Amino acid sequence: MSEAPGEKAIKAQPPAVPNAAEAKRYAGSKLKYYSEPVGVGAELDRVMIQQFHKDTGIEVTIIPRPKDATETYSVYQRLFQAQSGDIDVMMLDVIWPGAFAPNLVDLSEKLGEAAKQHIESIVQNNTVDGKLVAMPWFTDFGLLYYRTDLLEKYGYQKPPETWDELEQMAKKIQDGERAASPNFVGFVWQGKAYEGLTCNALEWIASHGGGAIIEEGKITVNNPEAQKALARARGWVGSISSAGVTSYEEEDARNTFQGGNAAFMRNWPYAYAAGNAERSPIKGKFAAGPLPHEPGQKSAGTIGGWQLAVSKFSPNKDAAIELVRYMTSPEAQRFRATAGSFLPTIRSVQQDAEVVKSLPFLASAKDIALVPRPSNSTGARYNEASIAFFQGVSQILQGKEPKAVLGQVEQRLTRALR
Ligand code: GLC
Repeated sequence: MSEAPGEKAIKAQPPAVPNAAEAKRYAGSKLKYYSEPVGVGAELDRVMIQQFHKDTGIEVTIIPRPKDATETYSVYQRLFQAQSGDIDVMMLDVIWPGAFAPNLVDLSEKLGEAAKQHIESIVQNNTVDGKLVAMPWFTDFGLLYYRTDLLEKYGYQKPPETWDELEQMAKKIQDGERAASPNFVGFVWQGKAYEGLTCNALEWIASHGGGAIIEEGKITVNNPEAQKALARARGWVGSISSAGVTSYEEEDARNTFQGGNAAFMRNWPYAYAAGNAERSPIKGKFAAGPLPHEPGQKSAGTIGGWQLAVSKFSPNKDAAIELVRYMTSPEAQRFRATAGSFLPTIRSVQQDAEVVKSLPFLASAKDIALVPRPSNSTGARYNEASIAFFQGVSQILQGKEPKAVLGQVEQRLTRALR
């Protein structure tokens, strides 16, 4: 994927390494780090790794992970199965600690104290059988991005609250804008069959009152509200969204929106800083807030986020832990929040005045029901369960009947969880 228009090297300097004295003991070690693949995140990784090398003498080779979380999962699975020493530090999705715990270093002895500053629920999520297998790095939740200039142009005073409103507004703006830009679309989101679709569909279903697929160990995926939500999303394909949205990941949606070619977008917080970069065509012309909901229901935002972990097969565990200590430090989280709108997992950093100013959409989070994916109840089998779900949703987006497909998803989930 090419760079979004307006992408620009970040100007701010990364923080010095607070743990340099300890880390220097491992100067000369060489680490391989599976990192942010694209955009501002990749750029932040690059400058922070340079700083780390300068301050500690530890060399880090950056290996961009696949952009697609489901593909990243497969890469790690292969490396761990081979007990490969070719991966030291890695980004770990919030849904994976259960699955990968046996391959990860217990960080509690060295980082347990530092972990106390982080949001407790994330630390708990990353603690498997009493072992802290990953350090919280940033958290995520789904947001609706909207073009404030276009809303005004078409006579709207505020963003849509319900899905019906979103559909009407997207259609009107799309019809109007297409006269001058034929590729303009109303709404972009993540429709490819991968983990991102699981996140989008959870939001649609929860905001229709249809629950969270699996609740307290019970499979609840096939219900009338869920069917209604998915039938609605199917209706967007080829109308307020292009037919191609069914192959979109986060970056496809962002490139379209940031290029000025969409009125609304569902995406994670990282798209906020990127959209406001120096030469971005939409700089200052958009805002982000809660996703729509059905009347009487609440906006939903799927909980995402990434951790940093160290492989058990790493030949350089001590140096690797020092890299994790730096990258997840309050200084680093503050830098990443202000330069890249990555949400801190450290409570004091979340409250920092500069951080609060950089993340204005956080104020709206109080109106959002945060929806976790069912990785607690599925444990190591989460990936299997998510695949069953997003493949079903994908079939529905291609035109199949929600009720029949969700019945099949229910059966697959039952088998996966047995
Ligand atoms: C974001 C989220 C992650 C999620 C992924 C899906 O990266 O942080 O939790 O799994 O998107 O595409």
